[in-house]
Amino acid sequence: MLDIFSAINTRNSIREYENTEIPMEEIERIVRTAGQAPSSKNTQPWKLFLVRGQAMEAMRNDFLQGFDEGMKPHPDFAYSPNPLPAPSLKLARECGIGIFQHKGIGREDKDKRHLHNRENFAFFGAPHIFVLGVDKDNFTHGTVMDCGFVLNNIMNLLTAQGYGSCPQYTPAAYPDLLRKHIPNSENILMITGLPFGTPKKDSHVNKYQPARLPIEEWFSVVE
Ligand SMILES: Cc1cc2nc3c(=O)[nH]c(=O)nc-3n(C[C@H](O)[C@H](O)[C@H](O)COP(=O)(O)O)c2cc1C
Repeated sequence: MLDIFSAINTRNSIREYENTEIPMEEIERIVRTAGQAPSSKNTQPWKLFLVRGQAMEAMRNDFLQGFDEGMKPHPDFAYSPNPLPAPSLKLARECGIGIFQHKGIGREDKDKRHLHNRENFAFFGAPHIFVLGVDKDNFTHGTVMDCGFVLNNIMNLLTAQGYGSCPQYTPAAYPDLLRKHIPNSENILMITGLPFGTPKKDSHVNKYQPARLPIEEWFSVVE
């Protein structure tokens, strides 16, 4: 098991998985530990769904069919300002271009770009996905922040245990499709998805990680 610094420093988004499941006891231990996250007034607003097995395959097939039929995104909430402010736009572009370069996909290679985008809808072949949401009547910037603490705990705990994950906007862009596959979720606002599993051995794409800003760009000391 990795210590907390090593887990955070080595975690990156995993976009290729082995075809093996993580034992339920291990998943439950990670979820229980992640639930130690703080929240405003200890309200613990997060709702977390694990989709696996046949349910995972049914959901994956529906997302892939939707992609192939050109379904349009209809997220429950706007994740980012539109348009992005210039500094964020620059980083987002670098990230988007970076992964194509890493995979050796050129600007003009429309077929490979299409396949790359399609992998999002296959949840990168992960054996499981967590779907994170919050009750619709409990949705604010603050409660979404509380939910983020749990998700971050999960990602780092998975890495610490030798597993991997990829936080993913794609599922949340189609919340009705998530609600179709997740029983009793009509009143859940869908925040994000987290495909996870065992990272594929020797995978090239899994080595991709965009650089971080030097801390001087976002950290100031007031004294
Ligand atoms: C909320 C959220 C949504 C994301 N959505 C996607 C996505 O739909 N597809 C994808 O390939 N990566 C997605 N990412 C992964 C980011 O691109 C990635 O976290 C970022 O580039 C930093 O790289 P790293 O996770 O490897 O450190 C998402 C990350 C977050 C936090």
